Amino acid sequence: MQPSDLRCEYRVSPVGLDVPRPRFSWILDAGPGAPRGIVQVAYQVVVSTSRDRAAAGTGDTWDSGRVESERSSHVIYDGPPLRSHETYHWNVRVWTNVAGASAWSDVEPAWWVAGIMNPGDWRAAWIGAPGGTHRAVEVRSTTKPAPQRVLRGPPSPMLRVEFELAAAPVKAILYATALGEHEVRLNGRRVGDGLLQPGWTDYHCRVQYQAHDVTGLVHHGMNAIGAMLADGWYAGLLGPGDAVRQHYWGKERRFSCQLLAWDVSGAVTVVATDGSWRCHGDGPVRDADHFLGEVHDARKEQPGWDAPGFDDASWEPVIVDERVRPRLLAQRDEPVRAFATLSPVAITEPAPGVYIADMGQNMVGWCETDVDGQAGDEIVLRHGEMLEEDGTLHVDNLRLAAQVDRFVHDGRGRRTFHPRFTFHGFRFVEISGLRGRPDPSSIRGIAISSITTLASAFSCSNPMLDRLWSNIAWTARDNMVSIPTDCPQRDERMGWMGDAQVFVKTATFLADVAGFMSKFTVDMRDAQGEDGQYADFCPHPFPEHVTFVFSPGWADCGIILPWQVHVAYGDTRILEEHYESMKRYVDLIHEENPGLVWTHYGGNYGDWLNGDTIKAAGYPATGGEIPKNAFATAFFARSAGLLARVARLLGKDTDADRYGKLAAAVKAKFNEQFVDEHGIIAGNTQAGYAIALGFDLLPEGARAGAARRMVDAIAAYDGRISTGFISTIQMLLQLSRLGYHDLACQLVESRRFPSWGYTIDQGATTIWERWDGYVKGRGFQDKGMNSFNHYSIGAVGEWLFSTLLGIDFDEDAPGMKHVIIKPLPGGSITWAKGHLDAMHGRIAVAWRVNDAGGFELDVDIPANTTASIHLPAKDVGSITEGGVPVEQAPGIAVEQGAGGVVVACAGSGSYRLACKG
Ligand code: BGC
Repeated sequence: MQPSDLRCEYRVSPVGLDVPRPRFSWILDAGPGAPRGIVQVAYQVVVSTSRDRAAAGTGDTWDSGRVESERSSHVIYDGPPLRSHETYHWNVRVWTNVAGASAWSDVEPAWWVAGIMNPGDWRAAWIGAPGGTHRAVEVRSTTKPAPQRVLRGPPSPMLRVEFELAAAPVKAILYATALGEHEVRLNGRRVGDGLLQPGWTDYHCRVQYQAHDVTGLVHHGMNAIGAMLADGWYAGLLGPGDAVRQHYWGKERRFSCQLLAWDVSGAVTVVATDGSWRCHGDGPVRDADHFLGEVHDARKEQPGWDAPGFDDASWEPVIVDERVRPRLLAQRDEPVRAFATLSPVAITEPAPGVYIADMGQNMVGWCETDVDGQAGDEIVLRHGEMLEEDGTLHVDNLRLAAQVDRFVHDGRGRRTFHPRFTFHGFRFVEISGLRGRPDPSSIRGIAISSITTLASAFSCSNPMLDRLWSNIAWTARDNMVSIPTDCPQRDERMGWMGDAQVFVKTATFLADVAGFMSKFTVDMRDAQGEDGQYADFCPHPFPEHVTFVFSPGWADCGIILPWQVHVAYGDTRILEEHYESMKRYVDLIHEENPGLVWTHYGGNYGDWLNGDTIKAAGYPATGGEIPKNAFATAFFARSAGLLARVARLLGKDTDADRYGKLAAAVKAKFNEQFVDEHGIIAGNTQAGYAIALGFDLLPEGARAGAARRMVDAIAAYDGRISTGFISTIQMLLQLSRLGYHDLACQLVESRRFPSWGYTIDQGATTIWERWDGYVKGRGFQDKGMNSFNHYSIGAVGEWLFSTLLGIDFDEDAPGMKHVIIKPLPGGSITWAKGHLDAMHGRIAVAWRVNDAGGFELDVDIPANTTASIHLPAKDVGSITEGGVPVEQAPGIAVEQGAGGVVVACAGSGSYRLACKG
């Protein structure tokens, strides 16, 4: 047995990590044939500046010594202060209950390169193009009669410098960042595979930098660095719709980078942005904006500009901007990258010379096109999510975000074009300006995301639910581009907190989102008001207290999201770092609402897009929405309750008692104010019961009655959903928990409007914002707000994974130290299987109901993990494991649970369980 999958701060060998005390994680790879029930009993971590010494288990920087502990994730570095730019190699060995010391891990690579550990180690100036004026341009929103004026800057400046190295370096690191967006190149090649860098933060508070190991890109002799700049989130158009806004953080695009190259003797050459760089203001990227799209004129390209030997005599000197001094931080999560290349599944020609390629999948990114043409030919790509009935592109729902790319050909043979500084939400791309019908192989959809790898799989006997899972996974990736957004296509694309909090648990079932969500948690603090209010979206490009702040269910993301990161990854540090912020927030709700009914808030969206917003014949016009103050008060109780748990976990018992009492008092108030003597919750909505049960607001004796009323409220809608963004997932979970699992399955498997199945039957490949985004016979919903790529009601993924498949976190043993396996067959589903690659390794489940009505369950539990396996069995005697009575099977202990369920406790290993029908 050896430790494997070594990760530092969730990443495999990160370059440029500025965490002073990074955390190490590994998994214990037990391998086939290993005994069951393997537990780590001790570990030793070494950190060394030499790879060989680390490989041999010698720590010249830090040696933890043998530590008696089961901990195999988030082991904290406790050595001397880390030095900027240093490469630290690390290694680990473990002792388990079944064997002595393991070998040192020989998995490569396991190192990290420290980033800027002291601000003084960033030696680069901020440079930019001299002059260049902005011009006013009219743009049109699909929802506004009059055009609006926006400012467009000069073309993307190109910046360059050449430098000489006396010898090929043994190590070279390039740090780069921008105010705006940049692409940095070295000796003719793009550096790294990150896109849209440096990523979105509140640039007033901090700007991320990225670091790259460029040892292989630089050489002895002359070298060149080139960079191109664009507006990005910093200076480009920003949502959330309604009125065009730009230049909130700044107007001028700026760049800062430093390359450090070490020779064998350890001497370092530093090449940093300064006044010696040259600049060209008339390059090929004529315009670029996330909403509007990009214009690339190939005739303006400067061949060889990013390589040594280019004649830049006609270029100008850059300006050094002394005024900008942003606070720099290393990017802690994975960069936005391309993760898939899609080919068109069909190409149509709705008008002569106008072609529409169907990429077969609603996606986020751009198209790459190979085009023949003559100099001056303009090829126009328009992007949309849907088609109109007549087969033309549906762009009404984009509002101001035109999403149009234009390429001007230089006539030099077949050229491949793609934008660099924009991204679009689309399934269909309309191409015009070509000299003939495009070949399908000449159009490629490049899908981008911060989350490029999924950590799980799900499938079951109903293919519609497999499609649903795929739609959720696509929607998640499409909306995790630097920050978690509401939608990726219209002029919005904001880090809406209500959406993020309702989806975060599903996200943790899909992928390792720990780094991404940890970064977003810092965004939340950056946007937090002096008084403690969280914003409704982060980053929050508005002055404090102006608008979009402190809304129940949205601002509460500041409590709920970090809690879920802790639950999923066992990350205590995120809670420690965020604790004071959480307290300030809950204290503010309390101060503003001493009567404990939350009526003083910033805004209140309530259970957004609930049934009352559905416009369809035969569907009730009212009766779906939980009253807003009940909704708000439920979140007050939820946030106070979670804060009490966080306080207890961090050993802050006085706070834990105080917030525990507050949560209990708010719950009591909720019952007093919103629940009548018959147990009817104000509004008598599906949502009201769902939220009250889901947030555990009701006394135990009232739960069964509330569940019955929830079922009645579904019957009142003729068995259909009337819940909105926030309450839908709660309703499914509570139906399944409280004895109405078949009804939950019925709702999830339904193809009748409104349902997920209905959207799939209309061709959905992502989750829609609204239940009635498109209705057969009626057409599209209000174009003012109708996204087809919104993850909120995709939170049903949580139910598919935790309840139907039956893999769930144990909040009391976070990071999947203990896993709850509780599959629940129901509806038409006769089998389900799936897995999650969690902090300790892969947890896999496959269950089926066999022909004899029996239940079979295969479970894989990784080393250093325990599981509670809930089996739908009459009694212990009816269960076998691996063909023998379960009581005789090794590594598993069974216990008769309540209500015809047997609970088996198991350690690591693979189990083949069967229960007689
Ligand atoms: C967004 C939502 C968001 C909401 C707030 C909408 O425009 O798209 O997803 O949560 O505003 O009500």
